Order: sequence, then structure tokens, then C-alpha cells
Amino acid sequence: MHAKIAVIGTGYVGLTTGACFAHLGHEVVCADIDPAKVEALERGEIPIHEPGLEDLVAEGVAAGRLRFVLGGAAAVPDCDVAYLCVPTPQGIDGAPDLTYLEAAAREIGPLLPSEAVVVNKSTVPVGSARVVEQHLGRTDVAVASNPEFLREGSAVQDFLHPDRVVIGAQDREAAIKVADLFDGISAPVLVTDPASAETIKYVSNAFLATKLSFVNAVASVCESVGADVEDVLLGMGYDTRIGAEFLRPGPGWGGSCFPKDTRALLRIAEDAGYDFSLLESVLEANAAQFDRTANRIWALAGSEPTPPTVAVWGLTFKANTDDLRDSPSIEVIRRLTQRGALVRAYDPVLAPEAIDLEGVTMVDDAYAACEGADVVAVLTEWDEFKFVDVDKMANVLAQRKIFDGRNILDRSQFTPHGFTLEGIGRR
Ligand SMILES: NC(=O)c1ccc[n+]([C@@H]2O[C@H](COP(=O)([O-])OP(=O)(O)OC[C@H]3O[C@@H](n4cnc5c(N)ncnc54)[C@H](O)[C@@H]3O)[C@@H](O)[C@H]2O)c1
Repeated sequence: MHAKIAVIGTGYVGLTTGACFAHLGHEVVCADIDPAKVEALERGEIPIHEPGLEDLVAEGVAAGRLRFVLGGAAAVPDCDVAYLCVPTPQGIDGAPDLTYLEAAAREIGPLLPSEAVVVNKSTVPVGSARVVEQHLGRTDVAVASNPEFLREGSAVQDFLHPDRVVIGAQDREAAIKVADLFDGISAPVLVTDPASAETIKYVSNAFLATKLSFVNAVASVCESVGADVEDVLLGMGYDTRIGAEFLRPGPGWGGSCFPKDTRALLRIAEDAGYDFSLLESVLEANAAQFDRTANRIWALAGSEPTPPTVAVWGLTFKANTDDLRDSPSIEVIRRLTQRGALVRAYDPVLAPEAIDLEGVTMVDDAYAACEGADVVAVLTEWDEFKFVDVDKMANVLAQRKIFDGRNILDRSQFTPHGFTLEGIGRR
């Protein structure tokens, strides 16, 4: 049965959730407090770069199943389900900041129809269902948790073809109402209590972050012992207990979720009396990976005593998104510019005014970034960087040196042109 859904917060998660629910046949109203965002969406402009989302939004709007309003109050009066998709950024001492969530709950509380279900899709710590209940101030409205596992860059695909749907609710009727929204989606649906649902989200992200820190450490070992990380990871990944997914070394991990969620879990565990030192070292290893990456780029540029000019290819935290939040590329750039390097940066989806960092000039193509540079550093795995005109690069670079921080370049394309190419954990 199709439901009336209000989505509060129309960012990466909210817009994807709203557009996908409309695609599944539900009637969706998406609300945001940012007037510019709402106006853009009403004009049919998608404020983020997310493959497939624009088409899905257009489809929903054209079918009359998706619309946009300013403020949660305008979205909820006749909804069956209200989804909270507001930010939960890192607050003091790593604890998640729930002020957006609380404000949204206070705003919609008095306007919700009786029997509506409010669903937390924001990533929130254990006990947040209770916090939302308190701020809603309603006893006739159930609160459930339905954490989101989508990956930016494949958000639509992930929402419509998830590995699992997790629903946490004390109220059986509420759980069924939420599960019914996913009719038409083929995935295991795990119904549990809110505390377990909330924990599943944090531990999943923390585990993935652990996997990445482990892989980066393996890459460093490979460099020291003369092994090739790509073969090592392939060999590891064939073991079904390990799995081949997410075994990609890089300049360090980042993004809008892993760093804040890992720190949040650390803090949640600490508050509960558990010393999660394993996770602490995962974060330390990641900071060390940023340092290591910056040091290797610096050393490869080899331009002491003059600080080098570095062409950086890729600024977003990964390919196929425009999200710069906690981007590893920015972390590495900061470490380089602090030492006096000049950076010429290019990213396929970002406008030249997208970042404003001292020592960084943004340009609008990959070759312009190379002009006069001592080294090229590939820091985001955009496909575009795999297919470049090597002669064109060679003509404008000061030195033919590349640090491939994502192991995406084909060495045989470059070495015949006199390039030195270093990767992560490569022989
Ligand atoms: N981005 C991801 O890949 C991802 C994946 C899974 C889970 N999450 C979680 O989902 C939540 C949202 O993340 P996001 O990346 O979509 O954030 P975002 O910053 O892209 O979007 C949040 C939106 O909420 C709006 N907003 C804030 N307060 C509001 C209010 N009171 N009423 C209406 N709108 C309001 C903001 O203006 C913004 O547009 C976070 O808890 C995040 O941890 C994110």
C-alpha cells in the first residue's frame, strides 16, 4: 500500500530517500530549512552531484508524487510517516550533535497526525528514539529507527537495491508500517529494537573504517617488504571470510560519515564504560596515513630547499560525489601547504570557487593543474584520470613525476614517456 511520507532534511540522504520512495509509488513531501535549496529543487535543479538522482527527482515531480516545501511544519500535517534526515555532525569530544534532530522533532511534533510514525534515518546514538519522543511531545505517535547505509556516488542504486533494511522499533505496528514502505525492494529486512538498529549503523561504519585502516597498513608493510599490495589484497579477498569488497588502499579515508561515526562510537563506548582502544588506533592509523601520503608526495617532488608545486587531481572524498566533507584530499593538501607547497588543484565536478584554501589555486582541467608542477598527486579515483593524454601532461609539467594515491593509473602508459610513478603499496 502506498503511503504519504514527509522527509525532513533534503540533503544527500533526504533527497535520495524522498526520490526513491516516490519512485516506489509513495506520495512524498521533502522539506528543508534552506530556502535556496528548496527553491532550486522546485526549479528542478539538484543541489548535489549524485548519479541517477536528477532523473528520479524529475520522474517523481512529473508523476505528482514528489514535491518540496520550506520547513518541516509544511510537510507533515497529513503524513503517515515522517522521516528525519537532518545532519548529526560531530559535536563536543566526538559525541554526535543532536541539535538539528531535536529542533526538527520540536517543529513537527504538534502538527503530526495521530498514529503517524516518526522515523530516524539520521545516524544517531543509542537512546535517540527516546530523545526524539521527548522533543515531539506526543504519546500517540510512535518513533522508529531506520538507519541509512547508502554510499554517496551510488546512493540511488544503494537505496533501491540495499544489502539490508534495518528497522528498530518498540511498537510492532510501527515496525510493520515502516517495513511496508520497502515493498518492491528485494532485501533482507531486519526488525529489531531501536538500540540495536542504532548500534548496527555505527558499528557498520566503524568496521568499514577499520577495514580501510587495516588495508592502508598492509600497503605500508608491502612497501617495506617489497610485496605488491594489489596482489596481496586479491589473495586476501578470495577468502570468503574476508571478502574482496572494500580492500582498496588510499591516501587515508574520510567523507561525511566514517570519521564522525567512528569518533561517535568511540565516545558512545567510552560513556558506557568500554575502552574501545582498537577503534582509537584505527583513527590514529588514518591520521598517520594522511601524514605518510603528504610526506611521500613531498619526497617524490624532490625540490628541497624550494617548496614544490603539486598538481592535485581530485578533491572530493571519493569519486562520483561533490561532497568535500572530511575529504582525505583536503587533509593531504593542508599538510603540503603548511610546509609551503603550492597546490594547483582540479576536480571534475567542482567549480573553481568551491574551495578557498591558502596556497591552493583551483583550475578547471587536469592539464591546467599540471602547468609547472613538480609532481602530480592523484587523490580521488575519478575515471577521468585513468584516460589522460600523457604527452599533453609531459609538455606542461616541470618534472614527470606522479604519485598515484588511489592506484588507478596504468604504469605502462607513463613509463615509456619517462615518468616516475609511485603508488600506494606498489612494488
Ligand atoms: N551522506 C551520507 O552518505 C550518509 C549515509 C548514511 C547516513 N547518513 C546520515 O544521514 C544524516 C543526514 O546526512 P546528509 O549527508 O544527508 O546531510 P546533509 O547535510 O547533506 O543534509 C541535511 C539537510 O537537512 C537540512 N535540515 C537541517 N535541519 C533541518 C530542519 N529542522 N528541517 C528541515 N531540514 C533541515 C539541511 O539544510 C540539509 O539540507 C546524518 O545523520 C548522516 O550521518 C549520511
